[in-house]
Amino acid sequence: MTVFKDLRDYLDELRAKLGDDAIQTVSGASRDLEIGCLSELNAEREGPALLFDDIPGFPRGFRVLTNYMGTAASCAVALGLAPNISKLEIVRTWKDRSNRLDPVPYVDVGKGAITENILEGDDLDLRIFPAPQWHEGDGGHYIGTADLVITRDPDSGWVNVGTYRACVQGKDRLSLWILNNHGRQIAAKYWARGQACPIAVVVGCEPTLTTAAAMSPPEGVCEFDLAGALRGKPVEVLYPPGSLLPVPAYAEIVIEGEMPSPSEESVLEGPFGEWTGYYTHSGQETVVRVKRIMHRNNPIILGAPPMIPTITPGDQAVPLYGACQVWRHLDKSGVENVRGVWAYGRLLMFVIAVKQTAPGQARRALTTAATSTHTVGGMQRYYIVVDDDIDITDINHVLWALCTRVRPIESIEILNSLTTIIDPRIAPDLRAKGDLSMGKVLIDACKPFDWIDKYPGQNRFEEPYRSEIRERWSSRLRL
Ligand SMILES: Cc1cc2nc3c(=O)[nH]c(=O)nc-3n(C[C@H](O)[C@H](O)[C@H](O)COP(=O)(O)O)c2cc1C
Repeated sequence: MTVFKDLRDYLDELRAKLGDDAIQTVSGASRDLEIGCLSELNAEREGPALLFDDIPGFPRGFRVLTNYMGTAASCAVALGLAPNISKLEIVRTWKDRSNRLDPVPYVDVGKGAITENILEGDDLDLRIFPAPQWHEGDGGHYIGTADLVITRDPDSGWVNVGTYRACVQGKDRLSLWILNNHGRQIAAKYWARGQACPIAVVVGCEPTLTTAAAMSPPEGVCEFDLAGALRGKPVEVLYPPGSLLPVPAYAEIVIEGEMPSPSEESVLEGPFGEWTGYYTHSGQETVVRVKRIMHRNNPIILGAPPMIPTITPGDQAVPLYGACQVWRHLDKSGVENVRGVWAYGRLLMFVIAVKQTAPGQARRALTTAATSTHTVGGMQRYYIVVDDDIDITDINHVLWALCTRVRPIESIEILNSLTTIIDPRIAPDLRAKGDLSMGKVLIDACKPFDWIDKYPGQNRFEEPYRSEIRERWSSRLRL
C-alpha cells in the first residue's frame, strides 16, 4: 500500500489520485463557528477536503483541515486502495488486512520536520494556533478532535496512543476529556504515586495513525505499531529532548506536558457537541500543564468535528473500524455466508448482508453481531440482517428491506443491554441513579428461509442488465 510520510504526503496523494478538486482551499473563514459551519455544510453534501487558510487573526499558513476522509474515494486513497473501489470492498479489504495485523515496531529516526519550531518558557503559547470553536454550544476552542494522545505506562514502559478531545484553556493549559480507557488507566498509575502523568498531544497526522489511535488493542500493544502494521512500514518517531514519549517525527503540532491528578488541578471542560449529535457532558476534567510546543512551519490542525450521525461522511465516509470489527467477529464466530457489514449513524445501527443457504443462518448472524464489542461503548441500538440482494451501503435499499421483509410480530427482538453515559436518551432520574439500562433492537429483515422460493418476485433489474444498460447509454444519459 502507499505509505504516507505525513499528512501533507496524504494530501498530495489525494490530489494525484482524485484531482485538484479533492481538496479545496478556503481563505478568510473565521475559526469562531465559520470553519465549523462550512465543514458541516460541506460534509452534508459529501464535499471535498477543506483546507482553511488566511484565518482572521492568525498568520497565513496556520491552517485547519476538515473532511480529510469525507468521501469513499478519499477513504480508499487514505488506505492505499484504488479510488474507484466500492464502499463495501473498502471495508472487506480493510477487514482482511486488519486480520493479519502483526504489529510493526515504531522506529526512532532522531529528527524530523516537527522540530522546525520549538516553543518553551516565555514563548510558550497555545493561542498562536487557530483552534476552532466548532459548534455554537461549544465551550471553547478545540485543537484536538482527531489527535493522538501519548502516554507511557510507568511500570512496563508500554506506550499508549488514544484520541481524546483537547480544548485550549490558556497559553499553557489544555483540557482533555479522557474516559476510562487505557490513557486514563496509565495516568491513574502516576496519580496513585503522587506524580503528574507525562503526556504528549499530537495534532495533524496521516490517516493510518489517526485510524490506529482510535483502536483499542489489548494492554501492552502500542497503536503506533498497529499503524505500522496497517502501513506495512514502521511509524517514524523521535524523542524530544528529556522525554520518554515518542512522537511522530512528521506530525504538524506536538504539545508536551504533564497531566496532574484531577484532585490537584482540573478545569471546566465542555460543553462540546458530541458525535451523537447532542451535548451530554460537561464538567471538571483533567488538564495538561504544557511545557513545550513543537510545530512545523505552516502547521495544519487536522479537525474531525463531530456532526450529527445522519451526515454520512463526517470524519470518515466509510464506517471502517466498526464495520470491520463486527464482520471480523462474525468470521471468528464461524457465521457462514456473510456478504458484508455496514454501519449507519456513527456505528449506532449495523446492517449485515447474508446469503441464506440454511434455516437459522440469518438469525445466527444477527444475534452474533449483537455480541460484538466496539467503540461506541454499548450505545449501538439496531442490528439488522438482510439478504445479499440488498445494497447495505445504500440506506434506501435497507429501508426497502425493513419495510417489505419484516413481520414485526415475529422478526424483531429486544435485548437487554447497557448504554453509555453520553447517550441522550437516558432519563434524568435514571442518569442520576447511574442506571444505564437501554436495550438493543435486533431485526431480521431477510425473506423467511422456509418459503424463500415463494417470496414474491421483484420489479428491480438485476445488476448485469443494469450495468449493460449503463454502459450502452452512458454517453447520452447520466445514469
Ligand atoms: C474522532 C474521535 C474522537 C474521540 N474522542 C474521545 C474523547 O474525547 N474522549 C475519550 O475518552 N475517547 C474518545 N474517543 C475514543 C477513543 O479514542 C478510543 O476509545 C480509543 O480506543 C482509546 O484508546 P485507549 O484505550 O488506548 O486509551 C474518540 C475517538 C474518535 C475516533
